[in-house]
Amino acid sequence: MKSMFNRTAVAILVCAPLVAFTGAQALADDGDLPPFPKDVLTDPAAIKAGHETFDKICKFCHGKSAYPGKAPKLNPKRYTPEFVFDRVTNGFRGMASYKEALSEQERQAVTAFIMSKEFSN
Ligand code: HEC
Repeated sequence: MKSMFNRTAVAILVCAPLVAFTGAQALADDGDLPPFPKDVLTDPAAIKAGHETFDKICKFCHGKSAYPGKAPKLNPKRYTPEFVFDRVTNGFRGMASYKEALSEQERQAVTAFIMSKEFSN
C-alpha cells in the first residue's frame, strides 16, 4: 500500500510539469517574441494593404477556397499579433518565411489584416 502511494506521487510529480509545458506551447512562446506595434493593428491603411497581400500570396494556401489540407485554416482568435508576425517572418515547418519576399511593413500589414474584424476564413 505504501509503495503504491509513492508510485502515484512520483507519477503526479513527473506529469504535472509536462502538462503545464504542453499547454503553454499552444500559443507558441509569445513571451520571447518582440512586441508588435499596436498602432498598426488599428491603422485602416495597413489593414487594407494587408488584405491585398493576403489575396495575392496567402489566400492560395490559407483562403476559403484553398485546396483542403494545403494549410491550416487561420483562426485569429487563437493568435496574438506577435505569433502571426513571427510565422510570416520566420516560417515554421510547411509555412515559408516571407522575410525576403515582404518588407517588415508588409508583414506587419498582413498581420494587422488577419487580426482585424475584416478577416474571415
Ligand atoms: C504554399 C502554402 C502557403 C502559403 C502561400 C502561406 N502559408 Fe501560411 N502556412 C502554410 C502551412 C502548411 C502552415 C502550417 C505550418 C505548420 O504548423 O506545420 C502555415 C501556417 C501559417 C500560420 C500559423 C497557423 C497556425 O494556426 O498555426 C500563419 C499565421 C500563417 N501561415 C500565415 C500566412 C500568411 C500571412 C501568408 C501570406 C504572407 C501565408 N501564411 C502564406 C502554408 C502556406
